[in-house]
Amino acid sequence: MESPRRSSCFSLVIITILSLSTLTLSFFSPIDNYLIDCGSAADATVDNRRFTGDSARSNSHILSSTRSDSLRNPNPPLGLAPIYHTARVFKSPSSYEFVIRDKGTHLVRLHFHQLDYVKCNLEDALFHVSVNGFLLLSNFSGYNTLNPRVKEYIDLGRYRKAHLVADTAQLVHSDKIEKFDGLTKQALETVHRVSIGGPKVTPFNDSLWRTWVPDDEFLKSSGGWEKVYFSGRIKYQDGGASREVGPDNVYNSARVIKSTNESIPKINISWSFPVMEDYKYLVRTHFCDIASISLELLYFNVYVNGYLAYKDLDLSDVVGETLASPFYADFVVDGDRSGFLTVSVGPSNMSYPHCIDAILNGVEIMKLNNSMGSLDGKVSAESVMKSWPRGNIGVLVPLVAVVCVLLIASMVLLRRSIGAKGSVAWSRLATDVTEVNLKGGN
Ligand SMILES: *[C@@H]1O[C@H](CO)[C@@H](O)[C@H](O)[C@H]1NC(C)=O
Ligand SMILES: *[C@@H]1O[C@H](CO)[C@@H](O)[C@H](O)[C@H]1NC(C)=O
Ligand SMILES: *[C@@H]1O[C@H](CO)[C@@H](O)[C@H](O)[C@H]1NC(C)=O
Ligand SMILES: *[C@@H]1O[C@H](CO)[C@@H](O)[C@H](O)[C@H]1NC(C)=O
Ligand SMILES: *[C@@H]1O[C@H](CO)[C@@H](O)[C@H](O)[C@H]1NC(C)=O
Ligand SMILES: *[C@@H]1O[C@H](CO)[C@@H](O)[C@H](O)[C@H]1NC(C)=O
Repeated sequence: MESPRRSSCFSLVIITILSLSTLTLSFFSPIDNYLIDCGSAADATVDNRRFTGDSARSNSHILSSTRSDSLRNPNPPLGLAPIYHTARVFKSPSSYEFVIRDKGTHLVRLHFHQLDYVKCNLEDALFHVSVNGFLLLSNFSGYNTLNPRVKEYIDLGRYRKAHLVADTAQLVHSDKIEKFDGLTKQALETVHRVSIGGPKVTPFNDSLWRTWVPDDEFLKSSGGWEKVYFSGRIKYQDGGASREVGPDNVYNSARVIKSTNESIPKINISWSFPVMEDYKYLVRTHFCDIASISLELLYFNVYVNGYLAYKDLDLSDVVGETLASPFYADFVVDGDRSGFLTVSVGPSNMSYPHCIDAILNGVEIMKLNNSMGSLDGKVSAESVMKSWPRGNIGVLVPLVAVVCVLLIASMVLLRRSIGAKGSVAWSRLATDVTEVNLKGGN
């Protein structure tokens, strides 16, 4: 039945999809929330989240696969989350389809973890993953990952409303700032999500189950900064950054530049993030003045790739004269040949002595799809589909996995079910993008 030699196959362990509307609810519960435990017949619970096994029949998703196997690790290591005990291995192009009721922003997380399995050699397996016509992964090997690997994608550009990511950001490619429009039409891949000056923030402490890693490995400045922690309440305000934009644990730590005498330090704090050339990146910088003793004392500059991206940022002003209130600013930059993207903060001409003269609480770096609609190489999802191996599947042929997020017109908020329109896998869905009033840029 299977290839007599080594058959190539791959595992796609878990799929998480959640929509990001209802951002105003204090207790966040997405309208579309699909948590799939691939290769499992039973459900699994991780951090109070229930993942549905994909081997059993379910009305939450449709798995279309003619040749796939469920694998179970009979001896999972102690402490490994139960979702990583099983996997689904595909031997032919396969897809998952989900009904999407909310037309807002969606997050898709793919979890990979190697499972040693005698019947097929996962080491040789290369595969592609596409969602909604965007190519997310090409010639990807889920193997050689000792620890579970999570790939996260945002937006996938098919929906009407913008949440979490506004349509517009500041394009930074010289000291002249321009506008970048159409962010909601892009697929974004989270490449770095960093909490500055604090410990790792785990999914347990993030309402969108994100992980924020500490900034130490990205910090380029050896001194001149101080770490600050804040144990008070972060004052989230309507129209400003919400808890879904960044959790308390990100905003209550930071690194700052502090003036202790009559002079203002002539330094920047800089971070350097590995990125790829030929892609644009969305840089989201998170700020919250948890360090100043009073309002209107903190003014500083924000630089991205060495360009002045935000001049004389006055946090008191942008959050409506409140301390400890979060703010974020979005910039779009090109990944250049250096292979690094730098973010710096430093005193501005308006900075005061004896005050905090720069601050940064968090950074997120998200890759934008290229002109081929791909996040992984100069090839389109369409051409990858065309190269699907038909008939006999030989050795080392890259296979294709397609995760289809289908839009079905049903306006839950209006409490009227319009019902399912005959949506077809990868067909182009309407993109009528409107912007929600999020605070971003300047
Ligand atoms: C995958 O790798 C093969 C062999 O290196 C190459 O021919 C093919 O173009 C690659 N496909 C994609 C989509 O990157
Ligand atoms: C969640 O945050 C609290 C407060 O910062 C911290 O004490 C706790 O260890 C965190 N829990 C996890 C699981 O990260
Ligand atoms: C201010 O303090 C810094 C170090 O904190 C020191 O390097 C600098 O010389 C001081 N400047 C003055 C004018 O005292
Ligand atoms: C801070 O960084 C910017 C951008 O790289 C640079 O123009 C500026 O001179 C730096 N300031 C100091 C004091 O090093
Ligand atoms: C600060 O002021 C100096 C002198 O007025 C000016 O040359 C410089 O461009 C200003 N820097 C910034 C970042 O505004
Ligand atoms: C990303 O893909 C969309 C849809 O295919 C396209 O409109 C957009 O221009 C692409 N982004 C970039 C930066 O090329």
